[in-house]
Amino acid sequence: MSLRMSAKKGEAIELPIVRSIADLRSAIALRRAAGESIGLVPTMGALHEGHLALVRASCSGMDCTVATVLVNPLQFSPDEDFESYPRNEAGDAAMLSEAGADLLYAPAIEEIYPEGFSTKVEVTGLTDVLCGAFRPVHFSGVATVVTKLFLQALPDAAFFGEKDYQQVLVVRRLVRDLDIPIHIEMVPTVREADGLALSSRNAYLTAEERAVAPKLYATLNEMAMAIRKGNAIAETIAIGEAALREAGFRSIDYLDVRDPETLARVEVSGRPARIFAAVHLGKARLIDNLAIPG
Ligand code: PAJ
Repeated sequence: MSLRMSAKKGEAIELPIVRSIADLRSAIALRRAAGESIGLVPTMGALHEGHLALVRASCSGMDCTVATVLVNPLQFSPDEDFESYPRNEAGDAAMLSEAGADLLYAPAIEEIYPEGFSTKVEVTGLTDVLCGAFRPVHFSGVATVVTKLFLQALPDAAFFGEKDYQQVLVVRRLVRDLDIPIHIEMVPTVREADGLALSSRNAYLTAEERAVAPKLYATLNEMAMAIRKGNAIAETIAIGEAALREAGFRSIDYLDVRDPETLARVEVSGRPARIFAAVHLGKARLIDNLAIPG
């Protein structure tokens, strides 16, 4: 149990943690019976200020905020970092409590995927490109776990970060397609002072790599300004790729300009567009994206 001080009475409050679907449902039913609205913040833990921005957004609009922590095996390929993904439940609980969350749902993997589990939620189209093209099981793993968390908690709204913009589109598509009556809220990317988007995976960076990492966001900004000024998109991407390689990124999965709704490639400037990037730096794969102002 983590403690936080009650804003009203100055007394310590415990952040309740539930681990089973049944306990989650009973805790939420009590809140519902009291007429409260419910906000859900799904995470994989190793929390930072980016996650807490989602918690705060939920707390400011909803009566009750439920955060979830589960490192979801379905969204990792066998060669990815599921085993080594950072885990720190006590630290997470303390941060959630401090940020104002009302409940932490931290189920065991077996609670979510019991023996015999064999259903997949697959969003097509949007997942063919960008991260979907490089991480083949990723979005079906995300869509499956998010659908389960939605049906378990049945919140009014759920909060996702702009940093994972493609994920937000996938989740919005699935709630529309499956008639799940949950409002999906996108919260702006939280960055370090030097522009690096906060990520649990930044912990993999050495000090040297950490000094290189902000050049990703700096490059996206330079590209956005160039495209806004009317520079050709293909040429701007080529210049951006060269700048990333020069900065020291090991490899580039993608650097693309795409439509913010459909993720179709945008070839000409002057249309709504967003720049998307995924690069490798040491052991970390960093992603970021930026809207090109109209
Ligand atoms: P995770 O990477 O832990 O991220 C949880 C949520 O925090 C996501 O909505 C993500 O976009 C948001 N987030 C992460 N870094 C952020 C930042 N710097 N600024 C703003 N928001 C940020 O995304 C996942 O987990 C999983 O795929 C999940 C949705 C939980 C399904 O397993």
